[in-house]
Amino acid sequence: MSTKDPNAQRMEKIVSLCKRRGFIFQSSEIYGGLNGFWDYGPLGVELKRNLKDFWWRRNVRERDDMVGMDGSIIMNRAVWKASGHEATFSDPMVDCKSCKARHRDDQLPAKDGAKYCPNCGSRDLTEPRAFNLMFKSYAGPVESEDNMVYLRPETAQAIFVNFRNVCDTSRKKLPFGIAQVGKAFRNEINPRNYTFRSREFEQMEIEYFCRAEDGLALTDYWLEQRLKFYEDIGIPREKIHVVDIPDGDRAFYSKKTYDLEYEFPFGISELEGIAYRTDYDLSAHIAASGKPLDYFDQEKNEKFVPHVVEPSAGVDRTTLALICEAFAEETVTDEKGNAETRTVLRFHPRMAPIKVGIFPLLKNKPELVAKAEEVVALLRPHMMVQYDEAGAIGRRYRRQDEAGTPFCVTIDFDTIGENGPEKQGTVTLRHRDSMEQERIAIADLKAWLLERIS
Ligand code: GAP
Repeated sequence: MSTKDPNAQRMEKIVSLCKRRGFIFQSSEIYGGLNGFWDYGPLGVELKRNLKDFWWRRNVRERDDMVGMDGSIIMNRAVWKASGHEATFSDPMVDCKSCKARHRDDQLPAKDGAKYCPNCGSRDLTEPRAFNLMFKSYAGPVESEDNMVYLRPETAQAIFVNFRNVCDTSRKKLPFGIAQVGKAFRNEINPRNYTFRSREFEQMEIEYFCRAEDGLALTDYWLEQRLKFYEDIGIPREKIHVVDIPDGDRAFYSKKTYDLEYEFPFGISELEGIAYRTDYDLSAHIAASGKPLDYFDQEKNEKFVPHVVEPSAGVDRTTLALICEAFAEETVTDEKGNAETRTVLRFHPRMAPIKVGIFPLLKNKPELVAKAEEVVALLRPHMMVQYDEAGAIGRRYRRQDEAGTPFCVTIDFDTIGENGPEKQGTVTLRHRDSMEQERIAIADLKAWLLERIS
């Protein structure tokens, strides 16, 4: 990355903020890390949880036509044979004969029509060969071919193989969907762009089952739903590029696929795929298992294999998009009239890791501290709060700006009635984005905040 490129500089600042403030750490950092693996710190885990919870709320709890499930990461190897992953879930890999670096053939740079190694510039590369991305392990103590298992490379297959179980137990009628959020693992040849392409990540997937004749229209319906979702978490529509994948570039079984791409600082890249997968997956499992994964329409007295539309989003990529979208630097004037740079994460309040910072104006005034603790106790059961009494109030605001906290509440002398009874029981409420302040009664605080964060 050239440090002169403003986008690369922006990305460097985001990565540094994420580490400094406890959003994302390199996995196993004290041992030199592990390429393609990341840990989420105290703020990162809250952000990610808010995203997953909101996705679940929108797609499962608020809908009559959806149910959830949580499948195991390791499944019978037969699942991956039937789905086609064992035979074809691979990327083309090449080795550089000069520096021995490994690359994905389809990501190699080229000059004058010839591909070259981005590491050392050599054009002396091996022929591409298929590298299967599934991680292998063994179930049980014997490391034999019979005991070989894979870590799932997507959550979707657990939904397909449970189709019958869910149908029988939930009694849903078509069209209906099954949603799942969980870990997936891919042994990516070149993990890159921070958490964007990792070897361990989380997916939020929906398999929406329907009649064949409704497949195309429902794909467009889900596209609209998903764009609305991104808007509702603070990623505007104009930042999402919808790519209608042309015939020939789609998987052979898909009749329509949209990729949703976001303008990351490192380039426009995929956040989510919405694929109309026809009846490919259920039919493949019916053929391989011999089990009836079809659907019986009682009203029409008709049995058939449903088609499916699959909106499949990445938790980590969306989390990264949220951080990139929220990151801003601006010049402001401090209390002494000096210009300074304010770093702020402008998260949508519903995504923000901490919803409200609560400060006593002075830490050595017991009445202020006691009142602040009262406000903490009032709000804590309902939202993530952070109490902070250290340092000047301006510095405490800046700390919350960097964490993306949308609101801060200061308990001051007015609150405890030292300046007369009119403002007693009120606090200063400070807005992160405008930095404006207003007074609000403690009695109204919970409802005011809940309305904005839910
Ligand atoms: N079941 C369909 C499926 O898995 P996919 O396009 O391979 O489709 C869906 O993956 C989403 O999972 C992607 O749009 C992306 O958000 C996320 N994803 C895939 N590979 C990833 C990786 N290596 N690191 C982070 N996220 C990834």
